[in-house]
Amino acid sequence: MHPVIAIDGTAASGKSTFARELAQRLGYAYVNTGAMYRGVTWYLLDRSVELVDPEKVELPSFEVATRLERGEMVFLIGGVNPASHARDGRVNNAVSVVAQIGAVRRRLVAEQQRLGGLSPLVMEGRDIGTVVFSQTPYKFFIDADPDIRAARRSRQGETDVVRRRDVIDSSRKNSPLLQAPDALALDSGRYSVNEMVATALAHLKEKGLEAAR
Ligand code: C5P
Repeated sequence: MHPVIAIDGTAASGKSTFARELAQRLGYAYVNTGAMYRGVTWYLLDRSVELVDPEKVELPSFEVATRLERGEMVFLIGGVNPASHARDGRVNNAVSVVAQIGAVRRRLVAEQQRLGGLSPLVMEGRDIGTVVFSQTPYKFFIDADPDIRAARRSRQGETDVVRRRDVIDSSRKNSPLLQAPDALALDSGRYSVNEMVATALAHLKEKGLEAAR
């Protein structure tokens, strides 16, 4: 198994910007697991599956595949790359419902763990430090004031239900969004990406992990 840096946190907290930059600085591959849940959500919406109550979703069979390409994950569902639909408003609205479905989580978590055998990774999501790679000693938790996060999304021109997603993600039975007790918390409302990356690199160095370049 290669080293994995686990990054969890709330919606629109800037996890991706931080995680991608950290991956680049370490020379690790970057994996955004939210993109996988978003991809499955798009696939189901595209097939007009009703996504209201996770217990009642009639899940069709679906095939997923992932690979690492130029330091980033490529995710395919039914042979299609859904990346261009990831930030659609309707995907933002429904993704937290899909993320509660046990069969979806089991399939995606298996894929995420498989990637850990291929390359050193920086992996971001909601349950990476608590479930997917709970044994890794390298964990961060990113959060910021909800108003700052909502403003961030609207600056990006997106309609996103940031608070609603947090409530659903934190209260679900299956792998809820939680800060792992051994994760270092970073407030992205108070610190710039560069400051957060510098803090993270110093923390990793203290734990014996040095940047490859
Ligand atoms: O990180 P992002 O905001 O793109 O994630 C979209 C949604 O996917 C989250 O709100 C959450 O419902 C789900 N998710 C999850 N577990 C992960 C990553 C994302 O449940 N590891």
